[in-house]
Amino acid sequence: QRPVAEPFKIKAVEPIRMTTRAERERAIKDAGYNTFLLKSEDVYIDLLTDSGTNAMSDRQWAALMMGDEAYAGARSFYRLEEAVREIYGFKYVVPTHQGRGAEHLISRILIKPGTYVPGNMYFTTTRTHQEMQGATFVDVIIDEAHDPTAIHPFKGNVDIAKFEALIERVGAENIPYINVALTVNMAGGQPVSMANLRAVRAVCDRHGIRMWSDATRAVENAYFIKEREPGYQNKTVREIMREMMSYFDGCTMSGKKDCLVNIGGFLAMNEEWILQKAREQVVIFEGMPTYGGLAGRDMEAIAQGIYEMVDDDYIAHRIYQVRYLGEQLLAAGIPIVQPIGGHAVMLDARAFLPHLTQDQFPAQALAAALYVDSGVRAMERGIVSAGRDPKTGENRYPKLELVRLTIPRRVYTDRHMDVVAYSVKHLWQHRDSIPGLRMVYEPPTLRFFTARFEPL
Ligand code: F0G
Repeated sequence: QRPVAEPFKIKAVEPIRMTTRAERERAIKDAGYNTFLLKSEDVYIDLLTDSGTNAMSDRQWAALMMGDEAYAGARSFYRLEEAVREIYGFKYVVPTHQGRGAEHLISRILIKPGTYVPGNMYFTTTRTHQEMQGATFVDVIIDEAHDPTAIHPFKGNVDIAKFEALIERVGAENIPYINVALTVNMAGGQPVSMANLRAVRAVCDRHGIRMWSDATRAVENAYFIKEREPGYQNKTVREIMREMMSYFDGCTMSGKKDCLVNIGGFLAMNEEWILQKAREQVVIFEGMPTYGGLAGRDMEAIAQGIYEMVDDDYIAHRIYQVRYLGEQLLAAGIPIVQPIGGHAVMLDARAFLPHLTQDQFPAQALAAALYVDSGVRAMERGIVSAGRDPKTGENRYPKLELVRLTIPRRVYTDRHMDVVAYSVKHLWQHRDSIPGLRMVYEPPTLRFFTARFEPL
């Protein structure tokens, strides 16, 4: 097969530095064995997240200069609004500083205390905002999503029976909306099918429930539909995006992913009363409704990124590169979440370190060991991220105990992926010697960001 290279050439470079093992041992100790607390200077290849870590294009950098920094009514806001209308198809948009700003607004607007918000698996900040408004999150994703080895083309699908059972149990009037994430981050970047979106819409219509999207990685979802769902092979990703979004009443968006920027997000919707409420709230928490915590130049860069993200060559390469890393690990027999998702390769830490119990934080320990081996920074997505139940205070024990190797967009070459694969394979050969951890500092919410550990 004729090889296909990155659909871009590199115009500016940022040097990175390899450290010594002794330096890394000291750095991870100072960071309390939490990769979030490492200094980026001490990291060689940074796969902590794909959030805000993207490389902008020359056109996005040029767009920065076009930023209108007016306090109110900035031209850059209208550019953003136009891009959202054209590519997502929603009527109204309210910018926010990032995705969780939009989650905060929609949770405040739609949730009443004591209600239930179903979703296709939790996301950390999303669920926290729902709980802060007094709602209970209910996971309605298909069972396969919780099994790293289950093969399913659309592992992010909503289980319609679970959704209907919830409606039966608590009543549609106590479900302000269903939140459908495209793709599902915590399940490994797994997509939702168009057929499933249609089915969810039908249930929502029958019961008068709103259907909201976490559209953070929706372009990656659209690509999987093009690849896997009958009838979509000859459609463009741009067309598929529009159809996906057409089933929703609105979305929250972290522009730091799909939109190829370093900061920003938005809330988009079709209903005017929600827009009105969002404008009332955004001025309290973020900024004026025409900037929402962003600089004018940030909105310009997002607008330009929105057009670039639906370029078919770009998104094909993005998905290819993630798969290129994942397939090397599969070939070595390393347990990863399958199928390989859209933004990351997830190591199954339970299967990787079977000598550790979940209370010994296998994913946290594996991420720390990977850093020490090669300076590659990954992220824990297991029991530490899951946190505690706010009502009982008990630890939540998620089925998935994962280390996420998250690929930033347009930042690393396939050669960097080879280096990562080599290090993971090396660890796999020495897995018996990786020790568990004990938590020595635990913050009250979103503990994974700042918790500290010591080796056992
Ligand atoms: N929803 C999803 C699915 C996300 O992955 C994120 C962020 C957010 C919402 C919140 O957006 O960070 O802009 O406030 N995910 C990042 C990650 C942090 O590393 O997965 P934000």
